[in-house]
Amino acid sequence: MQDLEALVAKAIAEFGSTADAAELERIKAGYLGKSGSLTEALKGLGKLPPEERKEAGGRINGAKNRIEEALVARRAALANASLEARLAEEAIDVTLPGRGRSRGGIHPVMRTWQRIESIFASIGFDIADGPEIETDWNNFTALNNPENHPARSMQDTFYVDMKDASGLNLLLRTHTSPMQVRYARQHKPPIKVIAPGRTYRVDSDATHSPMFHQVEGLWIDEDISFADLKGVYTDFLKRFFESDDLQVRFRPSFFPFTEPSAEIDMMFTAGPNKGRWLEISGAGQVHPVVIRNYGLDPERHVGFAFGSGLERLTMLRYGIDDLRLFFDGDLRFLKQFA
Ligand code: DAH
Repeated sequence: MQDLEALVAKAIAEFGSTADAAELERIKAGYLGKSGSLTEALKGLGKLPPEERKEAGGRINGAKNRIEEALVARRAALANASLEARLAEEAIDVTLPGRGRSRGGIHPVMRTWQRIESIFASIGFDIADGPEIETDWNNFTALNNPENHPARSMQDTFYVDMKDASGLNLLLRTHTSPMQVRYARQHKPPIKVIAPGRTYRVDSDATHSPMFHQVEGLWIDEDISFADLKGVYTDFLKRFFESDDLQVRFRPSFFPFTEPSAEIDMMFTAGPNKGRWLEISGAGQVHPVVIRNYGLDPERHVGFAFGSGLERLTMLRYGIDDLRLFFDGDLRFLKQFA
């Protein structure tokens, strides 16, 4: 039984020789498994004379216990080592500078949108919102653009390959003017509303984007005239640009839905942009046909409408010369407004 000591020593040495947990279990089986050397030794006890059995059995069990202890210790050591390795791998260097959390900001076009809402709300205008997918009827027909009339091609339209529930053709609204019709058909005069929102046209360069923003304005009552339009719009511009140093002019123009129609131009009389007329809005007295399409009597109800581009107003307010900057998502640009 001298070799029991050697067996224990060999087992301990083999356990120590591997750093792999699975391999350790395989080695263990060679000693303590069903046909492991220790198990075989125990089986061999039966062949010994009875008086030797007790002493031999005690020694074999002692050896088995020592091997088991060594195994448990080795298992713990390996588990510990692998934990240490993982911790080292995942260690966080607390001395690195933090990443910081940057503040978000409101997009410049949205700032314009919000300013316009608060200015018009302060003089009693309601604020309305409508769908970007519109019927051809609201976008064109109700606004006095007859079917197949060349006026429709003033605006390059994205058509939608579907019809609405009542069979009307759909498109991405080319302007916010259909909101005149939607709102006026749902409210009784006096109607005094602005409707800011997204609009779409097949157009893309430094001053045109296929998606852009407009704000529609509409004031209908029994006595609303072009003079009211001039007063309201001029006051709006002065408040929007926070300046009295600007002039406004109404230049004759054409829109199917207004008569007379005008293009509103403005000029700064001080500051870096001074001295140049800039076109900023379409406007006019609402055409009698359109008033009738609101469901109202044009002999009784009259008023003005305007439609202005939010990008244009934003570019003028901040001195931005390329409209594409608004939609590139470049943080170097956007951060200047945060
Ligand atoms: N809807 C026109 C456009 O997008 C702008 C416009 C012109 C709106 C005259 C109006 C208006 O309400 O009266 O070009």
